[in-house]
Amino acid sequence: MASYHSLFLVILIAAAIASSYQANGQLSPDHYSSTCPQALPIVKSAIAAAIKNETRVGASLLREKTAVPNNNSARGFNVVDDIKAQLEKACPGVVSCADILAIAARDSVVQLGGPSWKVRLGRRDSTTASRSAANTSIPPPTFNLSALISSFSAQGLSIKDLVTLSGSHTIGLARCTSFRGHIYNDSNIDPSFASSLKGTCPRSGNDSVLAPLDLQTPTCFDNLYYKNLLNKKGLLHSDQELFNGSSTDRLVERYATNTTLFFKEFSKSMIRMGNIKPLTGSAGEIRINCRKVN
Ligand SMILES: *[C@@H]1O[C@H](CO)[C@@H](O)[C@H](O)[C@H]1NC(C)=O
Ligand SMILES: *[C@@H]1O[C@H](CO)[C@@H](O)[C@H](O)[C@H]1NC(C)=O
Ligand SMILES: *[C@@H]1O[C@H](CO)[C@@H](O)[C@H](O)[C@H]1NC(C)=O
Ligand SMILES: *[C@@H]1O[C@H](CO)[C@@H](O)[C@H](O)[C@H]1NC(C)=O
Ligand SMILES: *[C@@H]1O[C@H](CO)[C@@H](O)[C@H](O)[C@H]1NC(C)=O
Ligand SMILES: *[C@@H]1O[C@H](CO)[C@@H](O)[C@H](O)[C@H]1NC(C)=O
Ligand SMILES: *[C@@H]1O[C@H](CO)[C@@H](O)[C@H](O)[C@H]1NC(C)=O
Ligand SMILES: *[C@@H]1O[C@H](CO)[C@@H](O)[C@H](O)[C@H]1NC(C)=O
Repeated sequence: MASYHSLFLVILIAAAIASSYQANGQLSPDHYSSTCPQALPIVKSAIAAAIKNETRVGASLLREKTAVPNNNSARGFNVVDDIKAQLEKACPGVVSCADILAIAARDSVVQLGGPSWKVRLGRRDSTTASRSAANTSIPPPTFNLSALISSFSAQGLSIKDLVTLSGSHTIGLARCTSFRGHIYNDSNIDPSFASSLKGTCPRSGNDSVLAPLDLQTPTCFDNLYYKNLLNKKGLLHSDQELFNGSSTDRLVERYATNTTLFFKEFSKSMIRMGNIKPLTGSAGEIRINCRKVN
């Protein structure tokens, strides 16, 4: 698990991998409309509250340049636990953890100013502990482009999905340990950007110091992440790999100049990620506790 410090990123990616899913055709946006009509509003308001808190906490972490009090997966889990507890009260045993994550991902993006999309629901949760939301395969920030492509491809996602979903780095923070290699060893980085990061992230020590993934607007879902890449101001090695003289450069340029296009494609890629088919034919279960099998 990479050491990003982005609650939203964790939720976004976890939504794809957390659970096994029913066959595509059985998913529907109206899945809970009679069994749990409160599901969507409950998730929405919990995410709004969490984001308000997270933005405040993130701002103070950056200002005080203190270490992370709590790791990102713990923070993400607390939000999911809270939502699950509310849903179990409203409609016991009905809403799956996988669906909670899929709705939470969409609502987080919307809340932060990004696009919206219809989330198809009716997923069931995995009955094997290894495929829990904790076990997400976010590629490490040291990956080069071909390794990133393989890692997405292993999940049934395309190169375009890779470039598009990486746009979620428009929000959140990363630890010194995730960008140290890029600022000290890579040549494809703006020198003044690198030297300002070196000011708080030394060659050794200060591992938990944070920097925003999008140096301009880390709490807004916009296309500035891509503009940063054009200026060699990607924070992670893996970010700058997307604009480093290869075939993905063109798409980065298009997203950097066309927010409408980025938003449209982001919605499409999120839907695709949310519809990844199960590896096994298991029917799964509705978990009572999102952290473990019933
Ligand atoms: C706000 O965030 C802090 C730090 O992650 C956490 O300890 C606290 O429980 C959160 N509060 C709410 C109301 O979510
Ligand atoms: C981060 O939180 C997860 C989930 O609570 C926990 O399993 C893990 O041990 C924590 N990692 C660290 C380094 O604290
Ligand atoms: C994560 O899940 C994969 C299978 O999807 C499994 O091979 C691996 O052992 C799991 N890792 C952990 C730490 O649970
Ligand atoms: C990318 O990384 C992989 C694994 O570390 C390595 O085998 C490969 O040569 C690298 N490719 C490029 C183009 O640097
Ligand atoms: C930078 O590259 C050197 C030589 O390859 C390596 O030993 C070192 O660990 C790298 N530093 C970081 C911070 O990744
Ligand atoms: C990508 O960036 C790395 C690190 O600076 C550099 O070594 C490599 O030559 C670049 N690749 C291309 C295709 O420009
Ligand atoms: C460690 O980070 C603090 C800010 O959190 C900074 O003032 C200090 O200079 C950093 N130490 C080094 C050796 O870079
Ligand atoms: C931006 O993308 C949208 C959606 O694909 C497209 O309709 C529009 O023509 C594009 N705008 C420009 C200036 O290319």
